[in-house]
Amino acid sequence: HDLGVVAVGFSGGQPKAGVDAAPMALIEAGLIKQLEEDLDLNVSYDGQVHNYAEKIPAEDPPYRNMKQPRFVSAVTQEVSEQVYSHAKEGKLVLTLGGDHSIAIGTVSGTARAIRERLGREMAVIWVDAHADINTPETSDSGNIHGMPVAFLTGLATEEREDIFGWMKDHHRISTKKIVYIGLRDIDRGEKKILRDHGIKAFSMHDIDRHGIGKVMDMALGWIGSDTPIHLSFDVDALDPMWAPSTGTPVRGGLTLREGDFIAECVAETGSLIALDLVEVNPSLDEHGASDTVRAGCSIVRCALGDTLL
Ligand code: ARG
Ligand code: MN
Ligand code: MN
Ligand code: MN
Repeated sequence: HDLGVVAVGFSGGQPKAGVDAAPMALIEAGLIKQLEEDLDLNVSYDGQVHNYAEKIPAEDPPYRNMKQPRFVSAVTQEVSEQVYSHAKEGKLVLTLGGDHSIAIGTVSGTARAIRERLGREMAVIWVDAHADINTPETSDSGNIHGMPVAFLTGLATEEREDIFGWMKDHHRISTKKIVYIGLRDIDRGEKKILRDHGIKAFSMHDIDRHGIGKVMDMALGWIGSDTPIHLSFDVDALDPMWAPSTGTPVRGGLTLREGDFIAECVAETGSLIALDLVEVNPSLDEHGASDTVRAGCSIVRCALGDTLL
């Protein structure tokens, strides 16, 4: 298999520094080497962690309540192009974040490539403690990492070219093609959006009730076999016991094995076209940083086909 790697050292979708250092930490922990040597993937990686410093606008005041909207827009537009060009060539794409705002770039890039290559709409599995589906108007924080799904589904749109106006229909996915797993901290406005649009979501409550095996059967059943899948994995889906080094930890999360299991089930479908690993922040909870990085590497290996036996 051919794999394109995009390393996005970006923290502008939320206020805490350090999440930009995650790609380097993951790579230094041996991730790319493991993918090449243990999983036998043919990896294309330009060897750079992009920090997009050249994209910092001279002025970037809040707009419609969004913080740093021009910077996040410019970076995600660039990420979208990078991911698109890998996916267009038929490569699987691994993006190492960065905060979750970068999914505006990754998912829009693959959605466009899959439309052009296969004439199909892909599905997204969003593994997260949070729904990240606030619109600029429903968000309390104004942090764009809490909004990517709203922009990707067209629930939020903006005309201004420099503030996500670059997003066109071919970048978007339907609300029916997204499935959440691991939710446990949803804002009030987000709950209404999920309900009003009938968006498929498996919360921690559902995992407690049915077990992760049944939940994965239901999640993949909703998507249907043979549909290309983009897996966007926020490390805060895992319980802080295993992944403490992240900006918005929420207790009561997935175990390490449940996280790996989700990734393994997606790998088994043979339909994975892209994977994001986001929100690892090695500078938070320094004692837990190596655990968090290791957990992230493990999720990536499982999703890219590392089988137990
Ligand atoms: N719902 C909160 C907000 O909109 C938290 C979002 C956390 N998102 C994340 N990608 N960790 O600000
Ligand atoms: Mn999250
Ligand atoms: Mn909250
Ligand atoms: Mn997230």
